[in-house]
Amino acid sequence: MPPFITQLRARLDRLKQALIALAEASDKPMILVKELSPRARRHLLRHFLALEEKDRLLRFGSKLSDELVTRYVENIDFSRDTIFGVYDRKMRLLGVGHLAFAPREASPVSGATLKARVAEFGVSVSAAARGMGVGTKLFVRAAIRCRNADVDTLYMHCLSSNKVMMHIAKKAGMEIHRDYGEADAYLKLQPANPVTLFQEAMEEQAAMLDYIVKANMRALFKWISRVFGIGKPKA
Ligand SMILES: CC(C)(COP(=O)(O)OP(=O)(O)OC[C@H]1O[C@@H](n2cnc3c(N)ncnc32)[C@H](O)[C@@H]1OP(=O)(O)O)[C@@H](O)C(=O)NCCC(=O)NCCS
Repeated sequence: MPPFITQLRARLDRLKQALIALAEASDKPMILVKELSPRARRHLLRHFLALEEKDRLLRFGSKLSDELVTRYVENIDFSRDTIFGVYDRKMRLLGVGHLAFAPREASPVSGATLKARVAEFGVSVSAAARGMGVGTKLFVRAAIRCRNADVDTLYMHCLSSNKVMMHIAKKAGMEIHRDYGEADAYLKLQPANPVTLFQEAMEEQAAMLDYIVKANMRALFKWISRVFGIGKPKA
């Protein structure tokens, strides 16, 4: 093997060890929420298909078959809705949030606001990544987007019966309203302010940078493994 390959391999091993040490040093890794584009459809499909039946029920309101999940992903309109995602270092989506704005009249909680639009939010986190704050981060990010878009009402399917989501919403300091009954509880949001505008811009920048680094590292490892047959990344 040429000497430069040996050196490169040693450097990559040291880098890998340093990154592992860094990740292990913190029990709560930094979670960056990225706004996804249509290019993420393949990642989204993999995330949703991996959800168990009971989680699909909680997420979509019914036990969607693989075929219907595939259709849902194919039909996501990225120009109308906002899809947030949290990636791991292997470029797998750990969590996904789908934020949709609908005209007030079309919402089940239409009388809850005087604003023109109401937001609806759905979120899911891979079973193995739960309890680490990913769901909270996605939820908080969606709420900030709503505030910055002049939307003050956030609706989630079966919110009241979802103990984890209720816990997350309360922890984020949200007001939970039940004027339409338990099944159609909704959350009231504060108006935007300079902090929310700045926060959203900064978080997106950081997540974009993180995504580029992860994608390039993965591409580099793949290239090295293909060309030199070493350090093959696991699927
Ligand atoms: C709901 C969901 C997105 C949460 O994701 P997550 O990444 O595990 O959430 P977080 O780690 O940010 O927070 C979970 C919180 O709920 C708490 N929690 C867990 N189980 C709970 C329960 N049964 N009752 C109350 N709180 C609970 C955790 O302790 C944690 O709180 P903490 O941060 O104060 O310790 C995830 O469980 C999921 O994908 N569920 C299936 C789909 C779903 O229900 N979607 C919501 C409706 S659209």
